Amino acid sequence: MAEDLQIVTGDKIEQYQNLIPQIKGLLTGEPDLIANLANVTAALKEQFGWFWVGFYIVKKNELVLGPFQGPVACTRIKKGRGVCGSSWAKAETLIVPDVEQFPGHIACSSLSKSEIVLPLFKDGMVWGVLDVDSAQLDQFDATDKIYLEQILALIEL
Ligand code: SME
Repeated sequence: MAEDLQIVTGDKIEQYQNLIPQIKGLLTGEPDLIANLANVTAALKEQFGWFWVGFYIVKKNELVLGPFQGPVACTRIKKGRGVCGSSWAKAETLIVPDVEQFPGHIACSSLSKSEIVLPLFKDGMVWGVLDVDSAQLDQFDATDKIYLEQILALIEL
């Protein structure tokens, strides 16, 4: 497919519905995980303009920074630590409307105000997480959870 992303304005659902087929096109036929994770972060950042979009990958007993778009970030997060480590430990999506209210939140940047973290699964095991940070409070809701989970389901380990 053409590598130019078609960006739309409109409500969030329209934006996701326009973006998802394009992400599917980017991933189809490409087996390289790093390439695919990198393009997913770029596509999300380009469409939504969020402050930080990136993957952390489980390596031994830690999450290690993977492909991302945005400012430099913490490289290693232990299981159960911060929003990312908690999402991994609980194997569930966490939506944090105000990061200052999340006990143990890891502040890679003081500009990040709200966050959503979603686990990636293979055979019932979490192998990584997608972390999205916004400079706005209360940026993410159940709609983001639904559509971001659909996007993550397109990624094959
Ligand atoms: N805030 C995250 C750490 C990762 S950065 O935001 C990129 C956390 O609490 O796990």
